[in-house]
Amino acid sequence: MTAPLPSTTPSSRIMAVTSGKGGVGKTFVAANLAAALARAGRKVLVLDADLGLANLDVVLNLYPKITLHDVFTGKSTLPNAILPAPGGFWVLLAGSGMVEYSRMTPEVRDQLQQVIAEVEPRFDHVLLDTGAGISDVVLYTVSLAGEVLVVITPEPTSLTDAYATIKVLAQTQGRRRFQLLVNQTRRLGEARAVRLQLQQVIDRYVSPQLDAPVRLDLLGEVPSDTAVRECVLRRQLMLETVPGCPASLALVALAQRLTAAT
Ligand SMILES: Nc1ncnc2c1ncn2[C@@H]1O[C@H](COP(=O)(O)OP(=O)(O)O)[C@@H](O)[C@H]1O
Ligand SMILES: [Mg+2]
Repeated sequence: MTAPLPSTTPSSRIMAVTSGKGGVGKTFVAANLAAALARAGRKVLVLDADLGLANLDVVLNLYPKITLHDVFTGKSTLPNAILPAPGGFWVLLAGSGMVEYSRMTPEVRDQLQQVIAEVEPRFDHVLLDTGAGISDVVLYTVSLAGEVLVVITPEPTSLTDAYATIKVLAQTQGRRRFQLLVNQTRRLGEARAVRLQLQQVIDRYVSPQLDAPVRLDLLGEVPSDTAVRECVLRRQLMLETVPGCPASLALVALAQRLTAAT
């Protein structure tokens, strides 16, 4: 069963970071893009929308006493659950191993919508770091965002899953524009080639079915960089520890493109 969509048009300040495939870099990108936006003077919140299998706390080396689960169950107020993260941005963290969040119930749906409606006016950017897949939890989370950032790697499995995600979102949510971030590129021009490949499949199989063009904008690319894995292993924010490495510089450029546009 698919969760019904929210009735209001989501704000473009809310950006869902999604991909279909797991392990492509969504959480890494969300955390470091948030840090880059914060450095550019923006007030940023990252919400861990992987409600039952959270990762953001691990990447940021945070041990939260209060998570979204406490807000949903009335054990905490929302302001108390919004925590400062290294990098100068804010986070709303989730729990891990919580099977009750493997499906979207009407209660969680309403609570998540309410949380996002409450935080939206207080931040310049709200990033929703989704889990993998196209479960109703992921699709509903994306439906609350005005912009969708699809993270892909040049691997065929990532492309296939991104294609499936875009197709479903175009069909079920009427989305016609997606921002693309190609992560873990290995050579110059690879991101453009990946975007073109995906766009061509969409032009051929998705747009005709919907009778409307579906467009992918290449927001940017992040090169494959050994510093990323080292930072994840040490649970350090890359933008703070190695701000000059190629992946950090790419994320700063990405944040500049976003701040120039809004
Ligand atoms: N640009 C990159 N270069 C090298 N390794 C990367 C890069 N981006 C991500 N990774 C690796 O991929 C792993 C998974 O990233 P993660 O953000 O947890 O993926 P997801 O949230 O999509 O499941 C990271 O722990 C890191 O080791
Ligand atoms: Mg993740």
